[in-house]
Amino acid sequence: MLEVDGLVAGYGDIPILREVSVKLAPGEIVGLLGANNAGKTTLINSLSGIVKPMSGRILLEGQDISGTTARQRVELGIIQVPEGRLVFPEMSVRENLLLGGFCDRARPHRPRQMEKVLALFPRLKERLQQPAGTLSGGEQQMLAIGRGLMAEARILMLDEPSLGLSPLFVQHIFEIIDQLHKNGLTMLLVEQNLNLTLRHARRCYVLERGHIAVEGTAEVVRDDPRTRQAYLGL
Ligand SMILES: Nc1ncnc2c1ncn2[C@@H]1O[C@H](COP(=O)(O)OP(=O)(O)O)[C@@H](O)[C@H]1O
Ligand SMILES: [Mg+2]
Repeated sequence: MLEVDGLVAGYGDIPILREVSVKLAPGEIVGLLGANNAGKTTLINSLSGIVKPMSGRILLEGQDISGTTARQRVELGIIQVPEGRLVFPEMSVRENLLLGGFCDRARPHRPRQMEKVLALFPRLKERLQQPAGTLSGGEQQMLAIGRGLMAEARILMLDEPSLGLSPLFVQHIFEIIDQLHKNGLTMLLVEQNLNLTLRHARRCYVLERGHIAVEGTAEVVRDDPRTRQAYLGL
């Protein structure tokens, strides 16, 4: 469904990602692991069009979308749930969700999509009028995911959804991810939490200082000594 081929990307003239190649099949959860500063967010930002490629290609269903803008990527259904959630704190939960569905493709279906999202997250339904900034971290993560779903995501890219959450919320967020997977959604799951990701993603990539150090099934990645090395920075 999505193919990243030899991607080089970074900031200014400094490349961070060095020839990164990644594939996502339809309906797959793919894990992207790596230590702090490995380049995980830079890869997500490249897929969402915020970071421009220096070379290499991004293909969506075989079409080269490398030159498209972030806005066009949203219209194509490539949706980012950003690291640190980045909900709009002064706006209500409802307004945050409506904003998620603002793109041309999703806007006409917002009422229907809102119902689906609230069925998935009853906690948000109870807090629709509450300013998003007053939610707990776990609730904000739910809202960030809900906002991404409102855009009728075809590929949902989750950037460290477990970061800073209590164990109970982490478990809940991962149950939601499993539920979305059952519904057929394609997801790229960026995490530092190795064991958790290996349990939920059948296939994983390990990024180490901007390049893919290990890739394969969860078992292969778990058993490869380079996986732990990539984390320890050896
Ligand atoms: N806006 C930016 N400008 C310059 N360098 C950046 C920027 N964002 C990230 N970097 C650098 O890119 C590298 C990878 O960062 P990032 O993609 O955020 O890693 P990760 O998400 O794996 O922690 C780091 O060395 C970081 O300092
Ligand atoms: Mg990051």
